[in-house]
Amino acid sequence: MRHLLTTEGMARAEIESYLDDADEFVDVLARPIPKVPALRGKTVATLFFEPSTRTKMSFDKAAKALSADTVSFSPGTSSLKKGESLKDTVLTIEAMGLDLIVVRHEATGAPWRVAAWASVPVVNGGDGAHQHPTQALLDSLTLRRRFGGRRGGLDGLRIGIVGDIRHSRVARSDIHAFTALGADVTLVAPPTLLPLDTTGWPVVTAGTLDDVLPELDAVYVLRVQAERGGASVFPSFAEYRSRFGMTADRLRRLKPDAVVMHPGPMIRGVEIDAAVADDPRCLVLDQVANGVAVRMAVLFQLLGGTRGDASRPVERPAERVLVGGEQ
Ligand code: NCD
Repeated sequence: MRHLLTTEGMARAEIESYLDDADEFVDVLARPIPKVPALRGKTVATLFFEPSTRTKMSFDKAAKALSADTVSFSPGTSSLKKGESLKDTVLTIEAMGLDLIVVRHEATGAPWRVAAWASVPVVNGGDGAHQHPTQALLDSLTLRRRFGGRRGGLDGLRIGIVGDIRHSRVARSDIHAFTALGADVTLVAPPTLLPLDTTGWPVVTAGTLDDVLPELDAVYVLRVQAERGGASVFPSFAEYRSRFGMTADRLRRLKPDAVVMHPGPMIRGVEIDAAVADDPRCLVLDQVANGVAVRMAVLFQLLGGTRGDASRPVERPAERVLVGGEQ
């Protein structure tokens, strides 16, 4: 059984194979009918125990673009409220006949528990401050398409990850994926927002953004995770912004072809200025768009879709009538 739980220890070839498939799905998504029959008859379940806008919708959209059915679980209106355990919730929904589970949970390690109980592939949609592997794949795809074109890695690219690294599952996943693909990663944060121990992490650290700004090819800006205590470890948002915010002035001091990224949700005026968020060099919406293609690649590979089906268009006459177009 193949799961996708972490980028830690992932081989470069494995990451590249997801990205290569995702490149093909970017093309599929650009078609008039952005849908292929690769996973027809399969059902993907999303179990999100934490809030999400883009990740959950992105998995839904990816499953539907592969012609899979989707079911989703909302903890607020579920039997969790009556005391049902995570294990019974997983076994119950699995008994309905699911083929893959995407789980997001505030507890580190929860997707590993789900993978141990379930008899279907499990994808980690984010666990605590630990891992968020599909975010790392979509970020890698976005950088590769911007700097390297299709195929290959991120060799020689200098990426600065800025902000609340301590509470960020995105940073933990990105560091492994970016460095496995050949990039150099610098963490930029106040000491209170760095992990207590980064021994063994394949990174260097910098205490101020201004020191490294002119050398970076990509500035990856993180949200201060107030819900995990991130906002309580510096004096004020104004002070944070003055030293670590991606301001319009700092955008002007970047290399001309450097880019700004953010996993969303962005808090404009804190970690990123509105003018930077809206600038064409900010790739946040490319990241969201690439996220659908990456999740298609993940669902496709974990559910063993057959290669020939990956890009064959759907040929259901009813759909042609409904959208009024031909491929
Ligand atoms: C991130 C997350 O939930 O880990 N968002 C996302 O999935 N795009 C980052 C965040 O919440 O700041």
